[in-house]
Amino acid sequence: MSAKQAARPILPGSTIGIFGGGQLGRMTAMAARAMGYRIVVLDPDPACPARFVVDECIEATWNDSIEAANLGRASDVVTLEIEQIAPASMEAAASFAPVRPGGQMLAIIQDRVEQKNWLRRNGFPVGDFVAVRSLEQLEAAIKQLGGRCFCKSATGGYDGRGQGKVGFRGEATREEIHDAWEALGCGPGVVEKAIELEREISVMVARSPNGEVKAYPAALNHHEHQILEWSVIPAPVSDEMQQQARTIAEEIADTFQLEGLLAVEMFVDRDGRLLINELAPRPHNSYHASERACQTSQFEQHVRAVCDLPLGDVDVVSPAAIVNLLGDLWIAEDGSERMPEFDAALNVPGVRLHLYEKLRPRKGRKMGHLSATGASAEEAVDRVLRAKQRLVMEAAIPQA
Ligand SMILES: Nc1ncnc2c1ncn2[C@@H]1O[C@H](COP(=O)(O)OP(=O)(O)OP(=O)(O)O)[C@@H](O)[C@H]1O
Ligand SMILES: [Mg+2]
Repeated sequence: MSAKQAARPILPGSTIGIFGGGQLGRMTAMAARAMGYRIVVLDPDPACPARFVVDECIEATWNDSIEAANLGRASDVVTLEIEQIAPASMEAAASFAPVRPGGQMLAIIQDRVEQKNWLRRNGFPVGDFVAVRSLEQLEAAIKQLGGRCFCKSATGGYDGRGQGKVGFRGEATREEIHDAWEALGCGPGVVEKAIELEREISVMVARSPNGEVKAYPAALNHHEHQILEWSVIPAPVSDEMQQQARTIAEEIADTFQLEGLLAVEMFVDRDGRLLINELAPRPHNSYHASERACQTSQFEQHVRAVCDLPLGDVDVVSPAAIVNLLGDLWIAEDGSERMPEFDAALNVPGVRLHLYEKLRPRKGRKMGHLSATGASAEEAVDRVLRAKQRLVMEAAIPQA
């Protein structure tokens, strides 16, 4: 244990180090700044979104343990906004400052197979799955599970990348299976039986080193092409389901002895059963609306948890929704770049704009989001979707 690793809270004026300077790191840094902390991030991209709001940016890859040690040296506590940090980098940083969440939990979560086995072993509800390491095993697993399946790489996937689907157009063909093997990167992975989804929800839970735990009200999430499209807090589900989902998240946080944040993505199947899809030990896209919906945003809660401050209240102050803005909105039909009509979107009551200052738009790249409050979850969603439509209204009107 280093000298800095005292059991006292890490107070404003101290420095928080973050592995990753994407939008999640950026928004955490903004919340930390608001509370008077200094921030250093480590990211391979010198123009990462956090770059513009932090004190220092260390340009390094996730497996650069020398620079990870430097991040630890510069910080009073280190946290992360991305799962792909190499174990050696986590250890290197941990020689100089507490790293929250810790390397052991990250090692389990960053491997889909380990994560699913951990959940099953600890009695948490998960759908049917089979781990695979070869094309032959993939084929056998698809046969065993039968019907529609998702094939996912063990490591590195996000926003539906590193995934293939089979059996959605009748029995899985050899060609489909082959494509799925390539989609998951021709390496270790997992085959999951496709759940008949009633809806998707998530719960953000925070736990501090002193053992305090707080789970947020669940969010309802709508995906398109396996990417989160919009999300609303609180999820309009029964009180019983809200309670059940929050209890699952709290139990996972306690079992892991989590220090920081953990997002628990869940499926609700047609029989109303909750099944855990996956875990993310960091702020999560489905809780961006917590900035508007809850007493304490997920980003401030992240800071409070890793600094061992009292956790903030998670009660809902107003229903709020977000819709993601992908790079596609910046790209006109002829391939040229255009600026979405933010002025038109901001005319919708209750709507705010959040951009991540990513310099280049790309199809499928998350560039920002819109948020909206409303008297009900339905109104918040309606407003935010209406605002998004306005971003490209002019372009949608055929030119005379
Ligand atoms: N077994 C399944 N049954 C039904 N739908 C699924 C299943 N697995 C994935 N999906 C759908 O695909 C989406 C993305 O899957 P998953 O969360 O595993 O991918 P990811 O790439 O890690 O995504 P992200 O990083 O955006 O959370 C899910 O939210 C869900 O809509
Ligand atoms: Mg997911």
